[in-house]
Amino acid sequence: MTVIDTATEFTDRVALVTGGGSGIGQAIAVRWAAAGGTVAVLGRRADALGDTVRKVADLGGRAEAISCDVRDHESVSRAVDGLVERLGRIDALVNNAAGNFIARAEDLSPNGWKAVTDIVLNGTFYCTNAVGRHMLAAGRGAVVNVVASYAWHGHPGTVHSAAAKGGVVAMTRTLAVEWGARGVRLNCIAPGPTETDGAGAALWPTPAARQGVLASVPAARFATPQEIAESAAFLLSDRAAYVTGDVLVADGGQWLGKAIYTDNRG
Ligand code: HXC
Repeated sequence: MTVIDTATEFTDRVALVTGGGSGIGQAIAVRWAAAGGTVAVLGRRADALGDTVRKVADLGGRAEAISCDVRDHESVSRAVDGLVERLGRIDALVNNAAGNFIARAEDLSPNGWKAVTDIVLNGTFYCTNAVGRHMLAAGRGAVVNVVASYAWHGHPGTVHSAAAKGGVVAMTRTLAVEWGARGVRLNCIAPGPTETDGAGAALWPTPAARQGVLASVPAARFATPQEIAESAAFLLSDRAAYVTGDVLVADGGQWLGKAIYTDNRG
């Protein structure tokens, strides 16, 4: 029996991580590089991308930054083709770029709806379409899409994000079947509340809101970005070679854990 060496399993492989300049995306990029892979981080903010490139360099790894908005299909295509031309291959794609804010559906402007669905749903398709062509030509590749459990159970105030992430889950399963025989696997991870600046500012901006989120998690704590990166690394690796079209939930039990009944013994 061969045991895959997780410390070197991405050696000579190339990954593209969208939204890789901060939070979960940065942790996934660093995790990929720590196992020997080369990583490109794509996003809108050059300064944030530079931070990831520095962190990877500090590990002795290879990283490059690509300034690009995932909502712009032509820029995405150009960026992906350029990357493959420079590095000769692309083995993994992580669609992590997201936009989110809490808003009542009746107050959400068409442009607010569009901003979030464009980033999450359309951006994921544009990147998957552009990278998928290269993966199909090579006959191998793994894609991980970052979603949230409200993609299937819904959540008030997130109609734009939940609808978009639900679409991403459907896209993942559809392409897992469409591309399965041609060596390309697609899966999702669904992180629970994770200690990052972006999610905190958008979803638990006050100490009371933060306490409320914490109280909803059976594991009684937030995830670290590194813990979420482990789930992504598994699905991108050959250890998951027979896993496709699935959603790995890493949420400390949050979406299961709604208490309904009370125990009157106290
Ligand atoms: C209501 C808002 C709003 C808010 C923006 N809009 N913020 N509406 N409440 N808080 C509206 C604007 O008024 C505008 O509509 C439209 O959205 C577009 O806003 P812009 O700022 O012009 O858009 P843009 O610069 O493209 O920014 C996109 C964004 C932004 C989504 C709005 O927040 C963003 O880029 N965020 C990226 C980082 C991020 O959100 N990370 C958190 C991910 S956490 P009008 O009609 O006025 O023109 C996450 C975790 C989920 O996803 C899972 C948890 C378990």
